Amino acid sequence: MHTIRLIYSSEAIDGLRYADFVSLMARAEASNNEQAITGMLCYGSGQFLQALEGERSAVNKLYHEIAIDPRHTRCQILSVDEIATRDFPEWSMKIIDWSDAVTAPRKTLLLKHSGSSQFNPSRMSGVQAATFLRDLAAMERLLLE
Ligand SMILES: Cc1cc2nc3c(=O)[nH]c(=O)nc-3n(C[C@H](O)[C@H](O)[C@H](O)COP(=O)(O)O)c2cc1C
Repeated sequence: MHTIRLIYSSEAIDGLRYADFVSLMARAEASNNEQAITGMLCYGSGQFLQALEGERSAVNKLYHEIAIDPRHTRCQILSVDEIATRDFPEWSMKIIDWSDAVTAPRKTLLLKHSGSSQFNPSRMSGVQAATFLRDLAAMERLLLE
């Protein structure tokens, strides 16, 4: 049993609305739950940043399905790590809408990890993306408390 975390970025196709994306993710969450996959997905400025955690074969299979999904393009793997503990254990897929009313703490977080207040994950390094998502998860947990 090898657990990995894969992080990738991609670009949504023109015309993909947040509502389309939410219904897509309702199915995805159920399927991830069955496969013991956890993670986080940010959507903003027409771009995605997603972390997938789980058993290596399950994450590979899912990533290859996602990469050929016609609803986005330019899938780019930012990092793959073998992990002892999950960063997002409680979320079969935590969705963060970065396009809508981005709060000041979120902007600060983005600035800290990417050097820009624009959400542009394709420019992040793998380490930046991983630490950004980890800090974002910590912020979300505080909000949920
Ligand atoms: C940005 C993005 C992220 C996705 N994330 C997931 C995911 O976490 N889990 C999942 O099962 N499908 C996800 N999908 C959907 C898959 O690409 C694909 O549609 C699904 O696995 C196929 O399921 P189906 O054959 O049952 O329709 C995602 C799609 C996109 C565009």
